[in-house]
Amino acid sequence: MNKDINGIKKRALDQINGAKDEGQLEKIRIKFLGKKSQLSKIITEIPSLDKQQKKLIGKIANQAKRQIENLIVQKNKNFINQKSYNLPTIDLTKPGAGVKYGHLHPITLVLDEIYQIFANLGFAIIDGPEIENDWYNFEALNLPVDHPARDMQDTFYLIEQQGSRPMIPRTHTSGMQVRFMEKNKPPFKIIVPGKVFRNENEDATHSWIFTQIEGLAVSENVSLADMKGTLLKIMQGLMGKNAEIRLRPSYFPYTEPSVEIDTLYKGKWLELAGAGMVHPQVLENSGVDSNKYRGFAFGLGAERIAIAKYGISDLRNLWRPKLEYLEQF
Ligand code: PHE
Repeated sequence: MNKDINGIKKRALDQINGAKDEGQLEKIRIKFLGKKSQLSKIITEIPSLDKQQKKLIGKIANQAKRQIENLIVQKNKNFINQKSYNLPTIDLTKPGAGVKYGHLHPITLVLDEIYQIFANLGFAIIDGPEIENDWYNFEALNLPVDHPARDMQDTFYLIEQQGSRPMIPRTHTSGMQVRFMEKNKPPFKIIVPGKVFRNENEDATHSWIFTQIEGLAVSENVSLADMKGTLLKIMQGLMGKNAEIRLRPSYFPYTEPSVEIDTLYKGKWLELAGAGMVHPQVLENSGVDSNKYRGFAFGLGAERIAIAKYGISDLRNLWRPKLEYLEQF
């Protein structure tokens, strides 16, 4: 029996020392100290031994049991300590590694640059409502209810009305021409940047939501040549000295004459803006004397400028929440 106990003890201590983790250790504990273990069996047999044996074996068996138990406790402590050593530690003496900052959306970047250049040319930057009523968005701009040109700017109507006027997410920023002229006496030069919304057949250069920069300059003698010069300066400021623009005849009910403005991009003309001389009726609708004053107006597409500036192939990506894409700018 004596030998048995020493043999058990030796095997138990060896195995405990070799245990790789807490799970293994627990199995070893059950094997050597559990109810069905050899050692437990020996201990239950002790009372049936003669007096001398009882004393001797009892002592050896209990010592062995205690030694095994102690080593298990010790080993378990080691495992727990090891685990806490593996935790990531905070080194308070380490120099800062910097914070990862986000950055502005490409459209915001383009707008900031555009504001700067317009401001240098003396334009004020004005804000307008994204939800507009039918009068400012259409009728005051010579676009009565059944006018076919409304088709170009087909949109969603809201349930809410302003008096008897239907309300819409504005289809362009041109309504702000009227709102501004109602409240301000010429001469003035303003731009009105903002989002516009249309029921659009989407493609790489058309999105149902986009950003326009309305421009309006009203004085006694402003001309189409002034507008051309202004937009050329803007494009040169944005794209470099060699930027080119061209004017193409077009039609808008609220300008006369009306033009489309293109810029040369990768050897092709890219449409940038609709523009023209403010129609006398629009001046009158806004309370401005059309015999005394004249104005030029334009509606620039910010996404189109972003295309040219950043070489974007599909402007719809600018409106998709794809961080990986937007982070390249
Ligand atoms: N509002 C026109 C558009 O959205 C652009 C435009 C603005 C045309 C000002 C003429 C004058 O297409």
